[in-house]
Amino acid sequence: MIASGAETGKAGYVGSTVCRACHSDVWSRFYKNPHFKSIASGKEDPANTGCESCHGPAEGHLKAHGGKASIISFPALSPKEVGAACLRCHSETLSRANIHASPHTLNGVSCTQCHSVHGSTTPKALLTKREPDLCYGCHSNLRAEFSMPSKHRVNEGFMACSDCHNPHGTFAPTWRMGRRPSLVDQALANEETCIGCHTDKRGPFAFEHPPVRVEGCEMCHMPHGSTNSRLLRRPVVFTLCLECHNGAGTFGRTGTGVPALSQAHNMANPRYQNCTNCHVRIHGSNSSPLFLR
Ligand code: HEC
Ligand code: HEC
Ligand code: HEC
Ligand code: HEC
Ligand code: HEC
Ligand code: HEC
Ligand code: HEC
Ligand code: HEC
Ligand code: HEC
Ligand code: HEC
Repeated sequence: MIASGAETGKAGYVGSTVCRACHSDVWSRFYKNPHFKSIASGKEDPANTGCESCHGPAEGHLKAHGGKASIISFPALSPKEVGAACLRCHSETLSRANIHASPHTLNGVSCTQCHSVHGSTTPKALLTKREPDLCYGCHSNLRAEFSMPSKHRVNEGFMACSDCHNPHGTFAPTWRMGRRPSLVDQALANEETCIGCHTDKRGPFAFEHPPVRVEGCEMCHMPHGSTNSRLLRRPVVFTLCLECHNGAGTFGRTGTGVPALSQAHNMANPRYQNCTNCHVRIHGSNSSPLFLR
């Protein structure tokens, strides 16, 4: 329960040094914690300094000679209360609105399931565990995707889940027609996260291939891993292209739909089945409207 000073009439702050006597284990590690800065600087007011900045005024706790009921104990708080306690200070760098709308918050995942203030073993961000093990702790089904023949090397430690995802929630994307996808973060100037690393796909190109911008990279690629080469969604390239290039629809530059293939494309000839042998600049080109160079 929240034993805030106002509720219990124990409004006094006593400072962090007194805690040492009874919580020496927590105390002796605390100088390494980024939250120690408030003690070191000595410039914050008591409500924002050291132990009591999170655990609240502790005068009543001392009078009671300890005990969980006389102080803010985090395991006793609801995920929402934990979030509010942390965001009191962290809403400058983390967007409250995004956190509230994120599937983590909506499903009751709290800050302290990913962050451990006193027991962290990671050098950065006070995580309960390193990535990707932190994430696999709840998303274990995804480990297999990152073991597929074509994959982003997350299990090998070359990149992290948080290179593409923001576990704290995301802004509405500018790709995929603004549909908010799975906590996928933005890169550079509000672009899809993939562009942050694959800068050669960024454009703008004189001749854009619309799905790259409109539907986004996941239209053709699996983001995590795939049994197909180049993380493609389909084993054979032409089946991917023919999902759209079948003459249907009324969209596109000319309003006549996505162009079907010309007669010259003899699909019985295996040479034509690997479309990107000729349409090599499939992500966009500066010299060929047909992406041939
Ligand atoms: C006189 C000894 C004593 C002092 C001094 C003391 N505590 Fe405690 N504290 C205890 C005892 C005993 C408990 C109950 C431990 C238990 O039940 O496992 C406790 C519990 C706590 C808990 C709850 C732990 C939990 O499991 O959630 C917090 C948080 C806490 N103390 C913080 C502080 C802080 C911050 C200070 C300094 C301002 C402080 N304590 C000073 C004895 C003390
Ligand atoms: C940034 C917020 C924050 C600060 C500052 C902080 N704590 Fe904690 N404390 C927590 C949280 C959250 C937990 C719950 C366990 C966890 O996440 O590590 C906790 C748990 C505890 C516990 C329970 C036992 C344990 O090891 O988990 C004690 C005791 C405790 N804190 C004492 C202190 C003392 C003493 C200080 C100052 C030296 C302090 N805390 C500073 C957030 C904080
Ligand atoms: C009184 C204000 C305050 C509260 C409350 C607070 N923090 Fe912090 N937190 C800070 C400050 C200040 C820093 C240090 C920022 C810096 O290094 O510039 C920090 C740093 C961090 C970091 C970054 C560590 C790193 O390596 O970059 C994490 C993670 C963090 N806090 C999590 C939490 C969590 C979780 C809670 C709630 C249990 C919490 N904080 C509550 C002020 C606070
Ligand atoms: C699902 C797991 C998860 C949850 C829930 C979570 N975080 Fe984080 N947080 C992370 C990871 C992972 C990082 C490190 C990101 C990186 O390395 O880029 C991080 C980084 C941070 C940082 C330091 C870097 C920054 O972006 O400023 C702070 C502060 C922080 N989290 C606070 C919080 C607070 C406060 C909450 C609760 C409102 C929270 N986190 C909830 C996983 C989580
Ligand atoms: C404590 C458990 C827990 C941890 C740890 C955790 N998640 Fe989650 N995550 C959930 C739950 C619960 C949901 C919402 C239900 C669902 O979609 O599975 C979720 C949802 C997501 C989603 C959105 C899924 C969708 O369909 O929209 C993404 C992306 C995600 N998590 C990524 C991560 C990443 C990256 C990490 C590690 C930094 C992480 N999670 C750590 C429990 C967790
Ligand atoms: C290269 C970027 C990238 C990396 C690295 C990445 N993801 Fe994703 N992830 C995505 C994209 C993009 C989507 C959205 C796919 C869609 O909506 O079609 C997604 C979807 C998800 C989803 C929801 C759909 C599903 O497949 O269940 C979860 C959960 C998830 N990722 C978790 C993780 C975790 C956990 C890790 C690390 C082990 C991770 N992701 C690493 C880009 C990435
Ligand atoms: C953090 C940087 C980073 C981000 C973000 C990123 N990638 Fe990658 N990607 C790489 C690296 C590095 C490789 C090289 C493959 C390896 O690791 O062996 C790669 C390889 C690929 C490949 C080629 C795989 C092969 O088998 O040749 C494709 C396709 C790809 N990424 C698509 C994407 C998509 C789609 C996204 C967004 C969902 C994305 N990438 C986000 C770094 C990134
Ligand atoms: C219309 C389908 C389509 C879309 C959309 C698409 N790609 Fe591709 N991509 C392909 C195909 C097909 C290949 C394989 C080309 C080959 O075999 O030479 C490929 C290959 C790649 C490769 C590996 C070879 C290379 O050119 O570096 C990367 C990396 C890549 N794509 C990244 C991306 C990114 C990032 C996006 C989003 C900005 C994206 N792709 C969007 C179809 C697509
Ligand atoms: C999601 C649907 C979609 C997929 C998948 C797709 N395309 Fe396209 N493609 C389009 C649209 C839309 C246009 C633009 C048509 C217009 O401007 O009228 C286009 C244009 C083109 C053009 C230029 C045609 C012209 O006349 O300007 C070529 C060549 C092309 N695509 C080849 C491919 C190949 C090869 C693949 C498979 C790797 C592929 N496309 C996959 C939707 C798609
Ligand atoms: C051997 C090289 C080659 C291969 C392989 C190839 N194309 Fe083409 N494609 C061309 C050339 C050259 C043109 C322009 C002349 C024409 O329309 O025949 C073209 C034109 C197109 C156009 C524009 C048609 C129009 O009327 O505007 C589309 C769409 C297209 N190709 C898609 C594909 C798809 C999808 C595949 C795979 C099934 C593919 N191409 C395989 C060489 C190739």
